[in-house]
Amino acid sequence: MSTTVVVAAEDTGIMMTAFDSSERHAFVGTVGDYTVADPRMQCRGVDVYYGEEHAIRNVSLDIGKYQVVSMIGPSGCGKSTFLRCLNRMNDEIPGCRVTGTIRLDGSEIYSKGQDVVPLRAQVGMVFQKPNPFPKSVYENIAYGPRIHGLTNNKAELDGLVETSLRRAGLWDEVKDRLNQPGTELSGGQQQRLCIARAIAVSPEVILMDEPCSALDPVATARIEELIDELRENFSIAIVTHSMQQAARVSQRTAYFHLGNLVEVGETKQIFTNPSHKLTEDYITGRFG
Ligand SMILES: Nc1ncnc2c1ncn2[C@@H]1O[C@H](COP(=O)(O)OP(=O)(O)OP(=O)(O)O)[C@@H](O)[C@H]1O
Ligand SMILES: [Mg+2]
Repeated sequence: MSTTVVVAAEDTGIMMTAFDSSERHAFVGTVGDYTVADPRMQCRGVDVYYGEEHAIRNVSLDIGKYQVVSMIGPSGCGKSTFLRCLNRMNDEIPGCRVTGTIRLDGSEIYSKGQDVVPLRAQVGMVFQKPNPFPKSVYENIAYGPRIHGLTNNKAELDGLVETSLRRAGLWDEVKDRLNQPGTELSGGQQQRLCIARAIAVSPEVILMDEPCSALDPVATARIEELIDELRENFSIAIVTHSMQQAARVSQRTAYFHLGNLVEVGETKQIFTNPSHKLTEDYITGRFG
């Protein structure tokens, strides 16, 4: 008879999971340390349901300060669902229910008193398909700071628009066309515009759901460089189907499978020496 022993050390977040050879396929708890020394966000025991469907199962994961964590796994395993929990985007989906604890700088983001508008400025989101507002380049950036009252006058707002575009690596390409519609930029430029828009409201965390999947290799390389630069000031959680991308841009990697967080660890370890058979199968292309 096979035996499986799971020892969970709640305080440290370290799950020591023992598998015998016949059960390395089975999921019995996250392998690896889901905590970090300096967390920006802390998720504990998060479950997500769409009606009867249990899409995320008891996931605990920290998002570290000034780090990129990538989330990988087969289609439908819950990566986008989990990412959306981090700024309560799932609130917008009828029938979606989130339980567990998610803290940003120690404060529960699902508490009754939490207003989602400032939360979504603190935890910004960049989507798969660039989605600039149907407004000018300038207004795409100025809109957020204006509604959040971040600047006192036009000169300050102009300065913030310029700084945000510079930080997103787009200023030189758009400085002479600030009044043109954002939707008329190239796909890669639109995605950097969306990143500039997220940056403009001084977030702490930027969530990215497959931000390069609609871009060509040159535009993708540009965004990847940008992610590396942004890490100096922000925490970033990125969902990607490209394992090369995860390896290039992230310091930690989380592998999801059927709603479970199977394994989390340093990116290098996940890609060179995964502990779980499911992770190994995925990264070696045997699954997914
Ligand atoms: N808005 C929704 N309403 C109902 N069910 C949903 C919704 N969004 C996702 N789901 C379900 O939740 C599960 C996880 O989906 P999710 O989109 O999070 O996966 P994913 O890992 O991001 O997949 P992909 O790699 O294809 O983007 C799936 O079974 C999906 O059908
Ligand atoms: Mg997805």
